[in-house]
Amino acid sequence: MGQMDGKVAIVTGGACGIGAACASTLAREGARVAVTDVDDAHGEGVAAAIRSAGGEALYLHQDVTQEEHWPGVVATVEGRYGRLDVMVANAGIAIRVPIVDMTLADWRRQQAVNLEGVFLSVKHAVPAMRRAGGGSIIIMSSLAGLRGAAGLGGYCATKGGVRLLAKAAALEHAEHNIRVNSVHPGIIDTDIWRKMAADADAVRRNEPTDIHALSRAFVPLSRAGAARDIADGVLFLASSASAYMTGAELVIDGGIFGGGMRR
Ligand SMILES: NC(=O)c1ccc[n+]([C@@H]2O[C@H](COP(=O)([O-])OP(=O)(O)OC[C@H]3O[C@@H](n4cnc5c(N)ncnc54)[C@H](O)[C@@H]3O)[C@@H](O)[C@H]2O)c1
Repeated sequence: MGQMDGKVAIVTGGACGIGAACASTLAREGARVAVTDVDDAHGEGVAAAIRSAGGEALYLHQDVTQEEHWPGVVATVEGRYGRLDVMVANAGIAIRVPIVDMTLADWRRQQAVNLEGVFLSVKHAVPAMRRAGGGSIIIMSSLAGLRGAAGLGGYCATKGGVRLLAKAAALEHAEHNIRVNSVHPGIIDTDIWRKMAADADAVRRNEPTDIHALSRAFVPLSRAGAARDIADGVLFLASSASAYMTGAELVIDGGIFGGGMRR
């Protein structure tokens, strides 16, 4: 018996990193999973790996910022699997630029993926979850949604925004047994850090991106997190183990937020 037997989940940004770990963890526990992303090669790979391991998954190309994609994604999932129980609104990008150097185009690109993409994830998941009799929406925020981070002003604005969107959505949908919670990862070893480092060639940056050195120095648990550390928290919020939690924040950061930096 898996914790997610009979349940159906969508994981946005599921081709890589945290989203891929969430998809395989939910599938391992019995969920049928739709992995969506703009990275088709890796997304197809995640779905194929789940099927090879005996699970059930499909991959759908989806840019979360495009509202016209959403009805088709939800309809395909309901058509294939009959219902929708879990939405992991995970797709995100990080643009590390001091505020005074940030172009309005970069600001808007980050808002579109991280904030508008999450709004659309909630908006289009809710009707399907109401048809299923309830559900769990898990919004991937960040430690940067709980406190400021120099060089990440635009990113902090999106992650703080989705933190409160989750609380408002939790109130709007509680009567329909739809729970909405946010997850706040700290420093997690995924490609998002390498993508940020690549951006650094184009614009002046002001923070280190070697996450292992950063983590050894500053994280109370002395290491960067792994994507599976976040997936385990997402599984908890997706499952009935968290049945009495909504509008809550799950911080998974090796102790930074609660304990502060080591030095
Ligand atoms: N890694 C960390 O340290 C960390 C910390 C806090 C929060 N987060 C958040 O976790 C989430 C996942 O990040 P990750 O670290 O796994 O990064 P990642 O770059 O490895 O994965 C992000 C995924 O989102 C996809 N994506 C980007 N834009 C998209 C779009 N418009 N439509 C659909 N998919 C899109 C990418 O193709 C990629 O597969 C993000 O929301 C990120 O902000 C990560």
